[in-house]
Amino acid sequence: MVRIIGIVSGKGGVGKTTVGLNLGAALAHHLKKNVTIVDCNVTTSHLGLYLGMYYCPITLNKVLRGEYTVEEAIQQHHTGLKVIPASLSLTDLEGIDVTEIRNSLRSIFDKNDVILLDASPGLGREAVATLRASDEILYITNPYIPFAMDIVRNQEIVNEIGVKPLGIILNMIHGKKYEMNKKEIEELTRLPVIARIPFDRNVHKSLALKVPVVTYKPNTLASREIIRLASDLIGETYEFEGALRRFLRKLRLR
Ligand SMILES: Nc1ncnc2c1ncn2[C@@H]1O[C@H](COP(=O)(O)OP(=O)(O)OP(=O)(O)O)[C@@H](O)[C@H]1O
Ligand SMILES: [Mg+2]
Repeated sequence: MVRIIGIVSGKGGVGKTTVGLNLGAALAHHLKKNVTIVDCNVTTSHLGLYLGMYYCPITLNKVLRGEYTVEEAIQQHHTGLKVIPASLSLTDLEGIDVTEIRNSLRSIFDKNDVILLDASPGLGREAVATLRASDEILYITNPYIPFAMDIVRNQEIVNEIGVKPLGIILNMIHGKKYEMNKKEIEELTRLPVIARIPFDRNVHKSLALKVPVVTYKPNTLASREIIRLASDLIGETYEFEGALRRFLRKLRLR
């Protein structure tokens, strides 16, 4: 049965889209699962942009307006990940009802192991619609009090709706003393921290190249943690290539 997982945060800019698309690429490319990621951040959509999909004639907006089927909106990414982008145009917000997202995806439920929903930040109408469309929630935060505090507020709504929080992904860790650590975040939010992704320049580089970091640099620290999280989520183990084997493979390529 498909798992519909919302990628959610209290504050904006914490890395939802980045972690979401990389989690999706890790599941699709490294773990060979059927995965679709949907840009539910319809007012400030970035997902297509981050994957180099600049012009997508059929978007989630058009599906929500009933102009096209959801199958027609799917873009196939070379990693195996399927992507449903939202429109980049504000005028395209007319006539769409974000509370219909889950219904609009029903026909692809049986074709996917996981559907990831990239949410907008905060607790506005759009963000709450994504919470309601999800079965499970992955919170993303940066290691600072206001960011973690917003998860506590978010949890009030998640509890009310009855969606299952899987835990917190701590992203963009610099390893400084003034950052909140795993234990502090867990005490504040009463949720487990299930992944710790460092601030990693390869994430920026991969975004500039419009490719997921988990395929661009699968052995960089951020990628390894995202791939580990992906395998944990589905209860499988992923064997990372050891340094020696990697070295030998590179030699053979030369
Ligand atoms: N682990 C990381 N290391 C370095 N840079 C990162 C990391 N994670 C995310 N970033 C960078 O942080 C910026 C914000 O990321 P992103 O757009 O994914 O956040 P978001 O939570 O989706 O934002 P919004 O709330 O606007 O939707 C991007 O420039 C991205 O490259
Ligand atoms: Mg985003």
